[in-house]
Amino acid sequence: MSTVTIKKLTGEELFKNIISHCKEYGFIFQSSEIYDGLSAAYDYGQQGAELKKNLRDYWWKSMVQLHENIVGIDAAIFMHPTTWKASGHVDAFNDPLIDNKDSKKRYRADVLIEEYISKIEAKIRKEVDKASARFENFDETMFLSTNPRVLENQKKIDEINVRFKSALEENNLEEVKQIIIDLEITCPVSGTRNWTDVRQFNLMFSTQVGSVSEDSSTIYLRPETAQGIFVNFLNVQKTGRMKIPFGIAQTGKAFRNEIVARQFIFRMREFEQMEMQYFVKPGTELEWYEKWKQTRINWHRSLGFPDNKYRFHDHIKLAHYANAACDIEFEFPFGFKELEGIHSRTDFDLKSHEVFSGKKQQYFDPEDNENYIPYVVETSIGLDRLFLATLSQAYAEEILEDGSSRVVLRIPPFLAPYKVAVLPLLKKDGLPEKAREILDRLKFDHLCIYEEKDSIGKRYRRMDAIGTPLCITIDHQTLEDNMVTIRDRDTMLQERISIEQLSAMVNDKVSLHNQLMKLC
Ligand code: GAP
Repeated sequence: MSTVTIKKLTGEELFKNIISHCKEYGFIFQSSEIYDGLSAAYDYGQQGAELKKNLRDYWWKSMVQLHENIVGIDAAIFMHPTTWKASGHVDAFNDPLIDNKDSKKRYRADVLIEEYISKIEAKIRKEVDKASARFENFDETMFLSTNPRVLENQKKIDEINVRFKSALEENNLEEVKQIIIDLEITCPVSGTRNWTDVRQFNLMFSTQVGSVSEDSSTIYLRPETAQGIFVNFLNVQKTGRMKIPFGIAQTGKAFRNEIVARQFIFRMREFEQMEMQYFVKPGTELEWYEKWKQTRINWHRSLGFPDNKYRFHDHIKLAHYANAACDIEFEFPFGFKELEGIHSRTDFDLKSHEVFSGKKQQYFDPEDNENYIPYVVETSIGLDRLFLATLSQAYAEEILEDGSSRVVLRIPPFLAPYKVAVLPLLKKDGLPEKAREILDRLKFDHLCIYEEKDSIGKRYRRMDAIGTPLCITIDHQTLEDNMVTIRDRDTMLQERISIEQLSAMVNDKVSLHNQLMKLC
């Protein structure tokens, strides 16, 4: 492999470059761009739609295909409005918001405090990195428990957390504002501390069904896909003769009127979730919660990104339905942020639907000969965030040995939009015809792209930029010996192989099947 130097980019630069790369290469466009766009809504282009579909398929197959006791459904986005009364979203799906009177910018009060805490955590990390670079046999645990500056910062974090947790639990919005004032948090735009009071803001979008205004009624766009699973719990259990423990999986759009929608596709008002509710016997839920934590972190690690890009974050304030909850956080270019949530939701949802609908939501356990409302462990991941995590990790700017540069997306091959590029060296002499023969052999198994325009070097660069793992080049020699050049995106190494061997070689490199085997 030739020597390459990977350009070191700051988080901000990296993020900016990824966003413009997404636009330039057909991954993501601003929604309704010709009308100057709509904030917090994005369209996936031709490459993006493929990558997103591949991520969704990987999640679906690892949930539904690899678990005999998990099945998938596709519930409607519109649901009976009482669903959201029962789930608690009408009364409690709020974010505390605060405005800066000078900049007129609106913020989530809890996020302002969490960001303040993150900055102190970053200071601690810096101390650790500095010390570990200085001492050979560095003991991080010892350092964290003895260094005075670390201890002082940790004490500060603990004090804020205690105060913040109790303010949230008591829904004491005045205290939340007081914390912001005491910490001297300023508005990033105006730089002032001229804050309004903190108010609660419901995140659900509503609309009307029915054409005549007298007959119409308010319904909501679902803020999570989970409720479509809960209301179908008995339908699926009975028709599928499912025995506890079992799971129901679903992927689909969810909608939230986010106060502060920013950071590209990280926080949108319309986004896609991939959720799985696992129904278990009461009393066993915390054991299953731990199991699913492990299963899900292993799934993330199976993508091949470095382990230190992931961490667990236990929730300080548990949602109204949970008795344990954590996030799997990923280190995005703007820091560690939530990628997936794992929640032990107790029997809250089913019990509440039983009360509001008047229909029993119980399971008869043939082994124990008893009826009960199952407890639920949920895994919930945002597909768009997974997409952003994948791109953030895959994107690299490289300087090659000859001084030229390339942008490459090192997307795990089984997830790449196009798996193979078929490239005749020239547009003549029968090379395009031979190339199309090869394309016709591969296209039934893999999404391939055919390109004959521009020099081969330029075409390789373009394929690197969209993350195509393999390029097959057809030259004059091919017509004589039936051999092609196959080039690997990551190593840029090229080898000659016979056309007969191509299918097996491509399969081996890009198949989802091989990837799924890694999970077992
Ligand atoms: N059913 C549980 C639930 O919805 P959540 O933590 O609110 O839990 C789950 O959301 C996941 O959905 C998050 O971990 C995140 O990946 C994704 N998500 C939530 N809000 C989002 C938004 N505004 N934009 C993009 N993804 C979002």
